[in-house]
Amino acid sequence: MRVCILMGSPRPNGNTAELCKPFIEELRQHKAEVEYITLHDKNIAPCVGCYHCQKVKDDYGCIQTDDMQAIIEKILWADILVFATPIYTWQATPHMKAVMDRMYGLNKFYGKIPRSTLNKGQSYALIATCGYDLDHGAGLLDEGVRRWCTHSGLDYLGMYAVRDKDNLASFQTHEAIQGARQFAQHILEKGIDTKPSNIPPGFNTRELSLADLHPDLLQYFNRHQEVRRCLRKEGGNWVLKDISFTEEWDIAVKKEIVEKDFTDCIKSSGTVWGVFNRNKALIAFACLPSHLFGSKNQYLQLMQIHVSSECRNNGLGKMLFELCTDKARNLGAKKLYISTHSSEESQYFYTKIGCVDAEEINEKLAKLEPYDRQMEFVL
Ligand SMILES: Cc1cc2nc3c(=O)[nH]c(=O)nc-3n(C[C@H](O)[C@H](O)[C@H](O)COP(=O)(O)O)c2cc1C
Repeated sequence: MRVCILMGSPRPNGNTAELCKPFIEELRQHKAEVEYITLHDKNIAPCVGCYHCQKVKDDYGCIQTDDMQAIIEKILWADILVFATPIYTWQATPHMKAVMDRMYGLNKFYGKIPRSTLNKGQSYALIATCGYDLDHGAGLLDEGVRRWCTHSGLDYLGMYAVRDKDNLASFQTHEAIQGARQFAQHILEKGIDTKPSNIPPGFNTRELSLADLHPDLLQYFNRHQEVRRCLRKEGGNWVLKDISFTEEWDIAVKKEIVEKDFTDCIKSSGTVWGVFNRNKALIAFACLPSHLFGSKNQYLQLMQIHVSSECRNNGLGKMLFELCTDKARNLGAKKLYISTHSSEESQYFYTKIGCVDAEEINEKLAKLEPYDRQMEFVL
């Protein structure tokens, strides 16, 4: 697990920093990778409210060039982001508040580009120190970060706060130290691994052969997806609409995928990759036929790429996508062609990985799934 701690006190050896020590120690004892970043010594200008970041797709997009760019890289590296701050006038310190405001560019919610969140899947947590009793001193910030997470579709893991009754000594008590350690354990239990390096050990990826294709191959695969928003084309632009439904596959659909899609693909020299968990159940797959098409035979279709619901957000999709791109290059394709599901989550995956609207539309594929977005990936 990767944890990035932003420390917002102007006092590098003050109360908040002191509380971070046992917290970091505990994280590291549990093999977490930790980045600790003090903010008082960084050059971070306040947000100027120009909204330029809302016009830039798939990238942070802030026009100001200062230390925030490097901090954003660390933020995006992390599975869990911890804001450690003293309370100043019921809020975070100015350094911390500037960072929080400058994170606006991570949410593309306020412009015309497709709605997306660059740090989707991340969790936030808060460490606060304050002079008043905890609820009166830190309650407002706690509630603010909670609302921020709800708004951004992120997980809030909660706050650990300690009151400053006796300066530094208040943060060196057994109780304060134990609390910091327990909070570290709590966030490690609740946070979700989102980075590619988090593919669980013991998972096995291989190319499938016809001998693998027994009808129950997808028996334990869980397609479940609660879709809330989908892209639709309006006046030539992609717009996210509130369209909700549940995606499931029953036994018949699973059998058809194995007996038709996988079988046809392998029989016609295409490739199907399967990822198997420790119990040898297939929990992710990708299907790449070998037939080139397009005006210059530039395209190869990435026909299916799916990850079972309990295994999502740990890099399996990206790993399978990379296997497809390598293979497609070897087969002489210049681009992958993908008829992508219009759900917000699928669109996030494909745009984040670098797919764009296809230059040439394959009418046959577009007709098969009229709500899909026809995309391509340049190899
Ligand atoms: C300018 C300033 C404003 C403060 N405002 C508050 C406040 O609104 N509520 C509160 O509970 N404590 C407040 N405090 C107390 C600090 O939050 C508390 O002493 C904290 O532990 C200092 O942490 P540090 O040593 O890491 O900087 C304030 C302190 C300063 C210097």
